Amino acid sequence: MAGTIYRISGPVVIAEGLDNPKMYDVVKVGEMELIGEIIKLDGGRAIIQVYEDTSGLRPGEKVGSTGAQLSVQLGPGLMGAIYDGIQRPLDKIKAVSGDFIARGVNADPLDPMKKWSFKPVVKNGDEVKGGDIIGEVDETTLIKHKVMVPPGITGKIAGIKEGDFTIKDVIAKVSGNGKSAEIKLVQNWPVRIPRPVVDKMILDAPLITGQRVLDSLFPVAKGGTAAVPGPFGSGKTIIQHQLAKWADADVIIYIGCGERGNEMTEILSTFPELKDPKSGRPLMDRTVLIANTSNMPVAAREASIYTGMTLAEYYRDMGYSVALMADSTSRWAEALREISGRLEEMPGEEGYPAYLGRKVAEFYERAGKVHVLSGGVGSITAVGAVSPPGGDTSEPVSQNTLRVTRVFWALDAALANARHFPSINWLNSYSLYADDLAKWYSENVGKDWHELYQNTMKTLQKEAEINEIVQLVGYDALPEPDKLTLDVAKVIREDYLQQSAFDEVDTYTSMHKQYLMLKVIMELADEELRAVKKGVSTEQLSGAEAKQKIAKMKFVKEEGIDAYYDDVRKSMAAIEAMEASAAK
Ligand SMILES: Nc1ncnc2c1ncn2[C@@H]1O[C@H](COP(=O)(O)OP(=O)(O)O)[C@@H](O)[C@H]1O
Ligand SMILES: [Mg+2]
Repeated sequence: MAGTIYRISGPVVIAEGLDNPKMYDVVKVGEMELIGEIIKLDGGRAIIQVYEDTSGLRPGEKVGSTGAQLSVQLGPGLMGAIYDGIQRPLDKIKAVSGDFIARGVNADPLDPMKKWSFKPVVKNGDEVKGGDIIGEVDETTLIKHKVMVPPGITGKIAGIKEGDFTIKDVIAKVSGNGKSAEIKLVQNWPVRIPRPVVDKMILDAPLITGQRVLDSLFPVAKGGTAAVPGPFGSGKTIIQHQLAKWADADVIIYIGCGERGNEMTEILSTFPELKDPKSGRPLMDRTVLIANTSNMPVAAREASIYTGMTLAEYYRDMGYSVALMADSTSRWAEALREISGRLEEMPGEEGYPAYLGRKVAEFYERAGKVHVLSGGVGSITAVGAVSPPGGDTSEPVSQNTLRVTRVFWALDAALANARHFPSINWLNSYSLYADDLAKWYSENVGKDWHELYQNTMKTLQKEAEINEIVQLVGYDALPEPDKLTLDVAKVIREDYLQQSAFDEVDTYTSMHKQYLMLKVIMELADEELRAVKKGVSTEQLSGAEAKQKIAKMKFVKEEGIDAYYDDVRKSMAAIEAMEASAAK
């Protein structure tokens, strides 16, 4: 039985007379059949958030429940797709900046007509359970799509087929416990419910990003969580783009959440052009974009991060490592606040609902490295940008995010103004994974990595202390070793931490190159300190050839980096010579 609209407040509609309404059921609202979701039940009334523009809607119009929760379609064809927050395809890039999908339109998330070539990896009679892989489809040149038994189904395989099928064709049956389930290339999953896994694992490897300040100083673990708070223009979006391009993940889910339309248009026009650096294939062959700009309905923005996370979980379940980026979770929280306000809920801090913290935590808890149901290992690394008003991270969204994420990349307006990019403040940022990852770095990068890392951090911290003294007594009054520390810190900042996203070589630095760069900087520091102790002044050292070579090292291509390192080492002989003559 259909209900009727009783009241409308922006994206929130109250309906009465719905037959057996359940929490999170998807409903069709009004004559236009706008898509909505029941978010509260109050006596006989259902409170619905509507994912489309509600203007023109009137009390008395009909409301019908679909009886199903807000779900996504999971199957081949996701890679390369561009969706809105509730998985409607934003077919043409232009559609985003111009006109949107017309209201009430039911667009298929996955092409129902397209045929995929399916190769089974199990045979009739095999015992399978939910999550098991029964076959493969070449989804793109980069991604083999594993077709899995949906969670909850167990039994014996019967009638498995090989050949070309649409997502709606039955490719096998699973019978057990007197029941028989049809398996297709597609399965549905409700976005607000995490897909099941066997267990979460310890995180012991980093997600290598090729960004020196991240990989060397503040690494995020594969399967970990990171927050990128920063004011407008500090580089949040560029960082997220760099991660999407370069992070060593198999699959990228990029959620553009509530940022201005033109920023999203930029993503939608640049991403399809990007090449996967490893294969030279289009990056979109392993990427899904979810776009909900600030001018699109807020409720769909609220749903977008769950839609993205569910897609990430689906590819994780195939045994892939997935990197999920959300830009910006502040806009998501604002959507939550707006809907909460319409519901006349008791507001918490700064008008955000009291359950903001719980929602943020629930989202990041879906990240992790896990044993998946099929027995393999998959991971989701989640990185959320936060845009606190004025860059002040004492506000609720930043605080609730920092409570659950384990890496904090603090973007800094002052550094961005000084054109120090990425503008990650090395004194405020942290990674709580650093200890867990130490073994990985020692085994895979260099035995002395931890020492290099510690010396780098120590030098940067010492620089800050010395600068305070300079404020009081002036630079000239500093002892020579302190002057030297300032010099070395400057080399670290300018020649190592600063990295241009737009330079062809500098944009990505392998871990081996990061190691050699940091090593040679620290070797220079040692050499210079020896010289200073023998009486050479920092001024004499300032023009050293080795230093000039280090300044160019970031622009040296990977294949020439070992030879370049040797070359810089050789040029340090000049400092040794100064040292020797000063000693006489
Ligand atoms: N790694 C980088 N290399 C070079 N320029 C950068 C880098 N990061 C940020 N920028 C500069 O800062 C500008 C603003 O960055 P953006 O990511 O759009 O900021 P936000 O998303 O925080 O508002 C960019 O347009 C670019 O000019
Ligand atoms: Mg931005």
